[in-house]
Amino acid sequence: MTPKGIAILGSTGSIGCNTLRVIESLGGESFRVVALGAGNNVEILADQVGRHLPELVSVATEAAAHDLRARLFERDLDLPRILVGEPGLVEVATHTDADCVVSATVGAIGFVPTLRALEAGKRVALANKETLVMAGELMTRAAKQSGAELLPVDSEHNALHQCLKGEHHHEVRRIVLTASGGPFRTKSLSEMRSATVSDALRHPTWNMGAKITIDSATLMNKGLEVIEAHWLFGFNADQIGILVHPESVVHSMIELIDGSVIAQLGVTDMRHAIQYAMTYPERHACELPPLDLTALATLHFEEPDHEKFPCIELAYRALRAGGTLPTALNAANEEAVRGFIEERIRLTDIHKVIERVMDQHAIEPALDLETVLAADQSARLLANIEIERLAKPSAVLARS
Ligand SMILES: NC(=O)c1ccc[n+]([C@@H]2O[C@H](COP(=O)([O-])OP(=O)(O)OC[C@H]3O[C@@H](n4cnc5c(N)ncnc54)[C@H](OP(=O)(O)O)[C@@H]3O)[C@@H](O)[C@H]2O)c1
Repeated sequence: MTPKGIAILGSTGSIGCNTLRVIESLGGESFRVVALGAGNNVEILADQVGRHLPELVSVATEAAAHDLRARLFERDLDLPRILVGEPGLVEVATHTDADCVVSATVGAIGFVPTLRALEAGKRVALANKETLVMAGELMTRAAKQSGAELLPVDSEHNALHQCLKGEHHHEVRRIVLTASGGPFRTKSLSEMRSATVSDALRHPTWNMGAKITIDSATLMNKGLEVIEAHWLFGFNADQIGILVHPESVVHSMIELIDGSVIAQLGVTDMRHAIQYAMTYPERHACELPPLDLTALATLHFEEPDHEKFPCIELAYRALRAGGTLPTALNAANEEAVRGFIEERIRLTDIHKVIERVMDQHAIEPALDLETVLAADQSARLLANIEIERLAKPSAVLARS
């Protein structure tokens, strides 16, 4: 059997590195790496190139490309083709030998490359949920037209994909996304107000990149996932629920019209979901230890606290309004998260930035690339004005 070609966008990140671990654990007969796209982490990328010998590599800047060449030269390795910036990521995503593209960059940078992969008819294993939030209609239409498969890597959607297999859409009453609740689940609103970046980066169950970890602290991650679920599975906002489940063992569930509930459970490790998306419809043995429910003994479930986590309602509002409002929500969130990580605003300012941007956004149908990109840009501009406004006076942020 010829191994399937894999291209990874965001190979140096948490999902990207886990994807390579999955490929290594499955052995060379199943998959081979043909192209890697990364940002600036040249140290990790050089190791990946040494181990997997891709034909093509893309990095964020010319400086990173220069650094990568020097490191590979030092190790006496044959140089792959090295490209830079978004055009480089697009080449990675559409590489002729790539059967499957793992979309695992963070934020809107992955949008055009992922769209191009779908247009080229590739299987896309999607982790980069922001792309589907900002342009769900464009992405799903592209997949439909080319026949490309769009398979979720996000553990909740991956679980739903498994639960929905063989079920009729009209027999599903609703789907329920589980949420760990993040590091502030048991904290008060005033504790959230004074949270530092390192407090917010301390996720209780998952080890992930910085942006999704902050999204998990505000529960905007769950809001983005509600929109993602809509585009992946075709349910409307009223049919998509959220349940806080701190153990993160039940990855999500569906409720059928006869009252049956089907859930997918597994250990808290993204390699399960990545492997499923890559090998589907086949299942391969996985190197992870089996789930031991007796060791867990108790599982907890509770409703999310909407007062403490207003980002959830903002996401539902964007989904219901449609058009470019989800694009604006995503862009404003990315800028606000950056503002928080740079200590310009508080954690509890993030939803204020997003809401102000949404209030000012003129919604348009999100049917073409130009409209989506224009909405994304104008929302970022507005978000930065809000961030500036909230950041003044700078003494506000003095940490006690
Ligand atoms: N981590 C998880 O468990 C998890 C679970 C579900 C969904 N997701 C989703 O998966 C995506 C990735 O998450 P992550 O946790 O893996 O993030 P991460 O660890 O921060 O990795 C992000 C990746 O994107 C690359 N990147 C950033 N800016 C770039 C640019 N301008 N050009 C090219 N590449 C760029 C980074 O490259 P450098 O590091 O080289 O700069 C890195 O490879 C996110 O959309 C997230 O919501 C993640």
